[in-house]
Amino acid sequence: MSSANTVNKSKVTTHVLQEMKFKGEKIAMLTAYDYSFAKILDTSGIDVILVGDSASNVMAGFDSTLPITLNDMIYHASSVVRAATRPLIVVDLPFGTYQGNSKEALSSAIRIMKEAGANAVKIEGGREVLESVKRIISAGIPVMGHLGLTPQSIHKFGTYVVRAKDKVEADRLREDAELLQEAGCFSIILEKIPAKLAGEVTNSLRIPVIGIGAGGLVDGQVLVLHDMLGITQDFSPRFLRRYHNLKEEIMGSVQAYIDDVKSKDFPNEREQY
Ligand code: KIV
Repeated sequence: MSSANTVNKSKVTTHVLQEMKFKGEKIAMLTAYDYSFAKILDTSGIDVILVGDSASNVMAGFDSTLPITLNDMIYHASSVVRAATRPLIVVDLPFGTYQGNSKEALSSAIRIMKEAGANAVKIEGGREVLESVKRIISAGIPVMGHLGLTPQSIHKFGTYVVRAKDKVEADRLREDAELLQEAGCFSIILEKIPAKLAGEVTNSLRIPVIGIGAGGLVDGQVLVLHDMLGITQDFSPRFLRRYHNLKEEIMGSVQAYIDDVKSKDFPNEREQY
């Protein structure tokens, strides 16, 4: 169990996550894309850091996760790796770097492991990416799956509404989760699906299931750091709990600085040489 005061210092591995599931200890995961935030997350005792392709939205300002490149992801991931020693660091394979064929998927995953020093990669999709998942795992690289609302497929879905509400899609998701487990994935993310379905999948799998908008019956939770801190404020799905209003706080500080500069209050005598 970790809290700000009792942080367990030993490195989180895929095996540790598996033990946490067996013990019923929930897994806490957040995104990070840079050194400074990753350092704060590490010190706070987070279990898993996801260098998500949500960096495409949050860091680069695109309106989807599609434009971010493998080089961009390696840049973000290597910044996080330099900061965080304890959490497991999982990095998204970005759109277009694994769907083509399994050989390309493996070489993308190898670049992330070798150039960024990550601990694992994450891939969106089920049966359609199974060959790639198997090939990456056979090279000794741990893979996290991602089912439900998979943002790289937003143009196929057409909307960000809750997935797998009907029986056909729910059954397909159940099967895909089994296939990913049998292929050797160490964990799966379920995004924006009914809580009951997420609970059933979690109970039927041996591997840990992490949810985002998938209710409380899963083995752990993940949120996008900038959303939960209230830095980004134009995105307010029901599942998002905001722990802070950092945008307001930062604006207050910046406005105070502007006032101090304009009024010649900053720098004062003690702040100069
Ligand atoms: O890229 C990301 O941040 C993600 C999470 C939303 C799970 O994939």
